[in-house]
Amino acid sequence: MASDQKMSVLLASNRGPVSFRYDDTGALHCVGGAGGLSSALAAIPRQENALWVAAALSDADRLAARSTPDGRLDAGGFDTGTIPVRLLDIEPLTFARAYNGIANSTLWFLHHLLFDTANTPIFDARFRHEWESYVEYNLAFAEALAHSADPGARVMIQDYHLSLAPRLLRERRPDLAISHFSHTPWAPADYFRLLPDDVAVDLLEGLLAANNTGFLAPRWAQAFLTCCEGILGAVVDRDRGTVDYAGHRTFVGVHPLGIDADNLRARADQPDVWARMAGLRDLVGDRRLLVRVDRAELSKNIVRGLIAYRELLRHRPQWRGRVVHVALAYPSRHDIPEYREYAAAVQRVAEEIVEEFGSPDWDPLVLAVDDDYARSLAAYRMADVAIVNPVRDGMNLVAKEIPVLSDDGCAVVLSREAGAAVELGDAALLVNPFDIEATADAMHTALTMDDDERRTRSARLAATASACPPKRWLTDQLDALAAAARA
Ligand code: G6P
Repeated sequence: MASDQKMSVLLASNRGPVSFRYDDTGALHCVGGAGGLSSALAAIPRQENALWVAAALSDADRLAARSTPDGRLDAGGFDTGTIPVRLLDIEPLTFARAYNGIANSTLWFLHHLLFDTANTPIFDARFRHEWESYVEYNLAFAEALAHSADPGARVMIQDYHLSLAPRLLRERRPDLAISHFSHTPWAPADYFRLLPDDVAVDLLEGLLAANNTGFLAPRWAQAFLTCCEGILGAVVDRDRGTVDYAGHRTFVGVHPLGIDADNLRARADQPDVWARMAGLRDLVGDRRLLVRVDRAELSKNIVRGLIAYRELLRHRPQWRGRVVHVALAYPSRHDIPEYREYAAAVQRVAEEIVEEFGSPDWDPLVLAVDDDYARSLAAYRMADVAIVNPVRDGMNLVAKEIPVLSDDGCAVVLSREAGAAVELGDAALLVNPFDIEATADAMHTALTMDDDERRTRSARLAATASACPPKRWLTDQLDALAAAARA
């Protein structure tokens, strides 16, 4: 494929579907990417005229990008096993400031309401450097997309890393149909106003340059509309889902993402998963199994979840010796101190619980922090109860994956602040994620639920969870984008 071939469909995200590693001999190897976004977008069929643009995240990625013509990994001898990928070789300091400083310390905290407002955020000279890097990072994407897009091509830009890219791309290529999708919640207007005024305006104007901007749940879309109205003075039509601003109309849509049940079940039927299930069976015996699986990250509310479990054991002694809590908390964004400190806090509370209740013949809690996907799938299949209690979450796919994989029905204790709660509703046990007593009570209710009710609820959850699989989610948005560009 020639390096200047133009594409009719382009995806853009920070993390791409593949990454690179050096092996022992120093040779580069292409491996599948991690993260919810990657697995969702990997559903796009291999097609000649589609391109996925992502950032090089490591030195190995940068080397791979440099060693291929125009950074296109399909053209340079790497079989990515997905659509052609172009990794952008962004200067490491610029990347780190944009990714760690703005995307994951500022915007992630903003949209998940994680600031500790007595101390953070602080918008000082350091923030301004980070913001400049964020602009530069977005510009690198806009230029790569502008360069590779056919006239009238559809470009789907993903997430808070790339909030400015729609506008920067529109300025370069007014002919394109551009969408932006937020996989996070969107902050309420009063919280969004914590940002410096120019930054708040740039972020909103960045998204509004798209033809379509999408969210996972109605709440997040409504919050975005309120910000557009209150901060920009844009004209919002809530019935039609449109924002008119600076002579341009943006359609705001809600596209809840679901699970590819067949694929997931096939993956969970592999020998590595069966082996992990045997290990779990040895650990749990005839006790009840309570499971959680998260990235160790502040919005997931793991500490409160563990404290709720401790409350359950303290105040309902009948569960002592009769339940095992397996908590899988995978490392995430460890370059950022707040994330490291949070992972350490999770570890501390877990140790306290084991100290308080553990005995030679009962492990009340097993916390594992090493990444092992097969073990997660084994836990999904075997869980009697799952706890998914984020303080706030765009969707939360774990809450959907567990019932889809459950062998004998799983009762799901679910935060009402997760986007998934809107769809899964009362088939789950909804809780206020800050209310530890209520969470402990919900754990008790879930653990005592009779088999018929648990299986019935779990089947309802599974049906809802697989209603809009990733392929349809993508196709719906491509159709919506074509329609919006014609309007
Ligand atoms: C989660 C969020 C996505 C985000 C991703 C980034 O999956 O739901 O909105 O894009 O994290 O994770 P990363 O590990 O790449 O920082």
